[in-house]
Parts: sequence; structure tokens; C-alpha cells
Amino acid sequence: MKHFISIADLSRAEAESVLATSEQMAATQSRSIRKLPTLVGTTVVNLFMEDSTRTRISFEAAAKRLSADVINFSAKGSSLSKGESLKDTALTLQAMGADAVVVRSSSSGAAHLLAHSGWIDQPIVNAGDGTHEHPTQAMLDAFTLRRHLGGRTGTAGLDGLHVVIVGDILHSRVARSNVLLLSLLGARVTLVAPPALLPVASGDWPCEVSYDLDAALAQGPDAVMMLRVQRERMIGGGFFPTEGEYARRYGLSEDRAARLPDHALVLHPGPMNRGFEIAGSVADGPRSVIVEQVANGVSVRMAVLYHLLASNAREDAS
Ligand code: CP
Repeated sequence: MKHFISIADLSRAEAESVLATSEQMAATQSRSIRKLPTLVGTTVVNLFMEDSTRTRISFEAAAKRLSADVINFSAKGSSLSKGESLKDTALTLQAMGADAVVVRSSSSGAAHLLAHSGWIDQPIVNAGDGTHEHPTQAMLDAFTLRRHLGGRTGTAGLDGLHVVIVGDILHSRVARSNVLLLSLLGARVTLVAPPALLPVASGDWPCEVSYDLDAALAQGPDAVMMLRVQRERMIGGGFFPTEGEYARRYGLSEDRAARLPDHALVLHPGPMNRGFEIAGSVADGPRSVIVEQVANGVSVRMAVLYHLLASNAREDAS
């Protein structure tokens, strides 16, 4: 694995290998000394051209727990805001000694461009690109599901589990990466949204689609993943249906959560609009693994950096 850009680039064996490494990384995080010497002498640059809390902090924590040096670079306050190009930014990072670049951008394809432009030769990790993909978010979601529900259907992993993903699919890089990864790992996925926010027909992606949340929940899914309505990506700031109607028809209320099977989990990648797509009491309730998703993000991102930097270095040396 040279880069980590898209779930579409992964085989099932590669995805399972990253999940297995994540499990090993998680085991190290419960020890009193959590730091590993694995990436001593390497420098990871977090190039964040779009706002982030969870992803940026967890990549920083992951790199530091592997003993890498970390340079945090945000567009605000940098020469990007003066109009410097992505190419010149990349060349500058390379000149500063970056061994890997973690990139978040509002432009779909930015991570792919950096990886395949020939401008720099370092591994690139996609930390979310526009409405395209957020592959490490999907990995941490799958990791969280596997820890709670893996093997439930009698086979290893997520085979046969049913995951319902609800919300603003149109603008969601999380939805795309999760559909690709969960289906790769053998799960059945149903996307639920109002028609205006659901650009996919059954068969376009490896999943089912529905406009009726109550009908999807009546199937007794093993997990429900709620997504944020991304007002900032809506051209002209428009919203359809109205916010009140959206919350009534597509929000995960206490009543809806109570109808789920006893074992069913509630996930949300964050940031959440509490009281809109998810009731605060559900987000904080016993089914919720939302805080655990954040914690698991560090282990999964340690695993991704390990696969790109440590295991590649060993292959080069052999
Ligand atoms: N889930 C996620 O990507 O959150 P941040 O935007 O805070 O990184």
C-alpha cells in the first residue's frame, strides 16, 4: 500500500489487515505507556485545508503515539490563503522533510491529485476530500462495528450484518466510503434520505436505497449510522425538505431508537446536530458508540500510518 486515498483501492484482505493492525494498536493504547518507537525519525504533515476536530487531532495523536514528529499545517494563516497553489504547497512540505502527508480538502480529488501528480513522492493519506471519500472514517466505523457485532451472524467480521445509513448522502464522503467498505466486508447496507439528498439509485452503489426511515428501521438493522446535514455544502444555502419536516421524517428520535433490536448500535461520525438528525438522549444513550468511534479513530489511524510508513520501510529494506 503506497497511499490511502479511497476504499475503492482496497481488497478485502488489505482492509482486514488494516483492521487487524488497528486491533493491535488498540491493545497498546490500554497500557500505561502508550507510545511505541515504530516511527522514530519520521515526520508526518497534517495538511488541513478544511476545518476538522476529530480527524486532525486523532491523526496527530496517532503519529505521536508511534513516535513520529508531527507538523500541523492549516490553510488559515498559511500562504494557501494568499493563493499559493497545491503544487507549491506540496513542494514546500517535501522540502521540509515530510515522510507522509495527511490531507483534508473541500475539493473532491485533492488527495488523489497529490498522490498521482508526480509533485511529491511521499505517501498521501486522504483525511476527507470534498464529497468524495473519507476512508479512515469508514475504517474506524467498521472497526467499531466489528468490536461489538463481529461474528454475530456466525461468520468472522461483518458478514451478513445490516447497517442503515441515514442523512445527507448527497454531500457525504462518509457514506460513500462506508458503503464501499461495509459491503467489501460482507455487510448489507441501506441508505435512507429524502430524494433530494439521495443521488443514488439501487444498483448504482453496492447497497439498497430507501426514502422511508421507519420502513428501514422495521427491518431490524444491527446498526444505524446517522449523518450530519451539511448545510455548508448546499449551493445557495437551500434546504429541502424544511428542517422541521426533515427532523420529523429522518431524525433518530428516542421513539425510533426504542424500536431497534436490543443489540443494535447507533453511530455518528460527528460533528452532530443534536436535536436535529439525532436526539441528544439517543446520542448519549446506551446504544450509542459515538464517543468510542472517536477513540477508535486513533488506533485505526495508527494502523494506517504503520502500513504506509513502517511496513513499506521494511519491504524496501528487504
Ligand atoms: N468525522 C469527522 O471527519 O470529523 P471532523 O470533521 O471533526 O474531523
